[in-house]
Amino acid sequence: MKKLMAANWKMYKVRAEASATAADLAARLDGKLPEDREVLVIPPFTALWAVGEAFAGKPGLSLGGQDFYPAKEGAFTGEIAPAMLLDAGCRYVLTGHSERRHVLGEDDAFVGQKTAFGLAAGLSVILCVGEKVEERKAGQVEAVVTRQLAAGLSEIPTDVLPEKLAIAYEPVWAIGTGLTAGPKEVEEAHAMIRAWLIGRFGPQNGALVRILYGGSVKPGNAGTLLGIDNVDGVLVGGASLEAESFSAIVTA
Ligand code: PGA
Repeated sequence: MKKLMAANWKMYKVRAEASATAADLAARLDGKLPEDREVLVIPPFTALWAVGEAFAGKPGLSLGGQDFYPAKEGAFTGEIAPAMLLDAGCRYVLTGHSERRHVLGEDDAFVGQKTAFGLAAGLSVILCVGEKVEERKAGQVEAVVTRQLAAGLSEIPTDVLPEKLAIAYEPVWAIGTGLTAGPKEVEEAHAMIRAWLIGRFGPQNGALVRILYGGSVKPGNAGTLLGIDNVDGVLVGGASLEAESFSAIVTA
């Protein structure tokens, strides 16, 4: 199982900027991408084709979408369908990102609907979960994360191919704040998620679903985070916007 090193560019970069960063990243990783790692860049929709072009023919670099609407097509102004992401070269897509939940108002049920729809449409889905600071202070990490997992994966068949699904544990208080969860907090949360996945998908498949950590991952802390049990990759926002820092994370 390769570690998944994912760059979430959020609402940053027009096409020329995305193209330049993707080309710079591909050049920096040329011949240097560790065998056991896979790189995923998740740009804004308008830059998908540009990043796809920069990655064409480069093994180990793939493309993902930040969001989609769970319908094949239709009168959904402003939305994008899984088939459109696949057409633009995406293999992966995010669901349940903290900003979709807490800024754009997506609830657990809608995240579950999207996760099932994205998988059925042929995308590999990274379901993001994570508690807010007040929930951590109230000792509710397990309650919140298992609620998000149960709802997020409620419609997924038990025999889903484990390589098509990943979970990103992103404590909300660590996203974009410079605060990273400590090694012990990460280890505990990831072990809890692993146990839950094994309960849901069985010992074999549950052990193969990758669990990424996200929240202020930087070149200086990536090595430590990736060394923690059950950390099968990272989801990086701010530090993924520059090829220099993201390539340092990828090879950390
Ligand atoms: P950050 O964002 O690395 O800037 O904290 C992570 C994310 O939102 O996926």
